[in-house]
Amino acid sequence: MGHLEFITDSEAKTEAIGEKLAKHAFLGAFLALSGGLGAGKTALARGFGRGLGIDDILSPTFSIIHVHEGELPLCHIDAYRLHGENELYNVGYEEYLSNRYVVIMEWPELVLNALPAQRLELCISGSGSQPRRITLTSFGSKHALFIEALKQMGDANADFRP
Ligand SMILES: Nc1ncnc2c1ncn2[C@@H]1O[C@H](COP(=O)(O)OP(=O)(O)O)[C@@H](O)[C@H]1O
Ligand SMILES: [Mg+2]
Repeated sequence: MGHLEFITDSEAKTEAIGEKLAKHAFLGAFLALSGGLGAGKTALARGFGRGLGIDDILSPTFSIIHVHEGELPLCHIDAYRLHGENELYNVGYEEYLSNRYVVIMEWPELVLNALPAQRLELCISGSGSQPRRITLTSFGSKHALFIEALKQMGDANADFRP
């Protein structure tokens, strides 16, 4: 289990963390992005999409699953409106666990039993104009590579306070 923390004081810096993570994405990667309303989950997902050459990541609250064609196919899920795991499977979730996609999910805490065991968990705390604390925890060796890669960026992380 790897672990890393950042503090960001702007939406752009939160996006930049997403963008850096995307450079290490692989088919079957699963990012679980938790944090309250307005924490910056979609901002991080937008940066992540940008890192894969995708520029239309929006807050998908009204449609649950959005698939984007980028350097890798990206599935962006917002579980906010779901009432449990069954509803997630009813909108075709199984397909996205197939290792043919990169998956980034907002509100994973609402469908905990549907999360793959191997994943990168990102928790964002803070709201409004406060700085955000972004905590990354990896489960499984493949997902640990995200954390290793970000740790090794050294000076590239000078913007952030780990
Ligand atoms: N450090 C920060 N990181 C991310 N967003 C921030 C930060 N500081 C302020 N914000 C603001 O917080 C809001 C985050 O919105 P959004 O990414 O849609 O949140 P969520 O998807 O978690 O509900 C945006 O209005 C953004 O400008
Ligand atoms: Mg959101």
